[in-house]
Amino acid sequence: MQDQNLKDFLKEFSISDSQLQEIYKRFTSEIRNGLSKTTQPQADIKCYMTYVQDLPTGDEKGDFLALDLGGTNFRVLLVSLKGQHEAEIDAKVYAVANDLMIGEGTQLFDHIANCLAEFVVEHSLGDKHLPLGFTFSFPCVQLGLTKALLVRWTKGFKCAGVELEDVVRLLKEAIARRGDLIIDVMAVLNDATGTLMSCAHRNPECRIGVIIGTGCNACYVERVENADLLEIEYKTDKRHILVNTEWGAFGESGQLEFMRTDYDRTVDKLTLNAGTQLFEKMISGMYLGELVRLVLQDAIIKDLIFHRCTDKQNFINILNKNAGCIETRFISEIENDGFPEFRQTRLLLQELFGLEKTSVEDCQKLRFICECISKRAAKLAAVGLSSLINKIAEPHVVVGVDGSVYRFHPHFDEYMREAMRVLVDPKLSFDLMLSEDGSGRGAALVAAVASKN
Ligand code: GLC
Repeated sequence: MQDQNLKDFLKEFSISDSQLQEIYKRFTSEIRNGLSKTTQPQADIKCYMTYVQDLPTGDEKGDFLALDLGGTNFRVLLVSLKGQHEAEIDAKVYAVANDLMIGEGTQLFDHIANCLAEFVVEHSLGDKHLPLGFTFSFPCVQLGLTKALLVRWTKGFKCAGVELEDVVRLLKEAIARRGDLIIDVMAVLNDATGTLMSCAHRNPECRIGVIIGTGCNACYVERVENADLLEIEYKTDKRHILVNTEWGAFGESGQLEFMRTDYDRTVDKLTLNAGTQLFEKMISGMYLGELVRLVLQDAIIKDLIFHRCTDKQNFINILNKNAGCIETRFISEIENDGFPEFRQTRLLLQELFGLEKTSVEDCQKLRFICECISKRAAKLAAVGLSSLINKIAEPHVVVGVDGSVYRFHPHFDEYMREAMRVLVDPKLSFDLMLSEDGSGRGAALVAAVASKN
């Protein structure tokens, strides 16, 4: 049984059924507004057209290069599509140092081109001129399959000279500056799009790709007649188009204020993109740990947890001064920990804050704080998915899911399904499938599909 005072303190993180319905209603109307030319400028959820109009058949073959920029790491991949729904992937991860994330755009793209060149040499691909798919996971207005204007940076990136520019052009220019690489950029895409393509490659019933990782976003299959934002280069003979919702922006015009907490407001203020991506900041990995840090700090001050701790003030100071000290993966580890040993939790508390001999009661309380925050995140993600599933309205829809929060949290899937069962039309059924390397395999598939057309 949890302590009643702590429960009351955390109540503002719980979402009642009627609140859930209200968020659902508001979310659904933002999607509708995002899809229509007249209302899109005001809509929070922009529903960008991807110009990807074919799902993979599974028969795709060939070797492709892929670049994946958008999370904590940058990756270069060699993807061999083998037909029969099979793919082989060889990938290398390259760190993106913090000063590159907030420096000059040209430096970031030079770094990308350098990593690509290194990879090409290491894999002896120099004379093969492989087609390349570029997974660039930030909000972009696409003007075709190979032209994407960055609307704004998210997730801690803030490089100068990239916003409103075509990122494919910036990539090509960086490659040209080196002068030693011949690369054919076939497509630029978002990671949510990649995840949808990658899961559809394995399961033809997949209609949605969602990322619950550093950031949070979804892409889904829309009927062409519902997409009056389509402008150039789209195929009129195709019935569908993939839409990159960029749903992380939901809440920017106030629709979530009735349930955002002061902790959410503080987390937002500490970011490089304050006032934006508010839905994302309640769900994704870049922010959940921060929420736990702030809530924990306040709970200690209010004597709701760790009240027997001998050096309470020191604990509070560490929490206060070290933004980012509670990483989201700790939430997964704490929620995964076994009662009554709480070995992992105790280890973390010792390593991070020098706490010795934490009581079972405090471990339970800490886990409860984590649960409240991750449950709320899962419910919000479920709102988005349910809205898309009901919109697609096919009898059975599979959702491909990628991202560290979903992948590593022990109960996120279960929390999400529970809320989805409340919101999804009972005449429809759904399933969630874990994506296998959506960004890489997806990039190759978009490039493959593009080269067929
Ligand atoms: C952020 C980006 C979006 C991306 C998501 C997941 O929301 O704006 O483009 O898909 O993070 O990485």
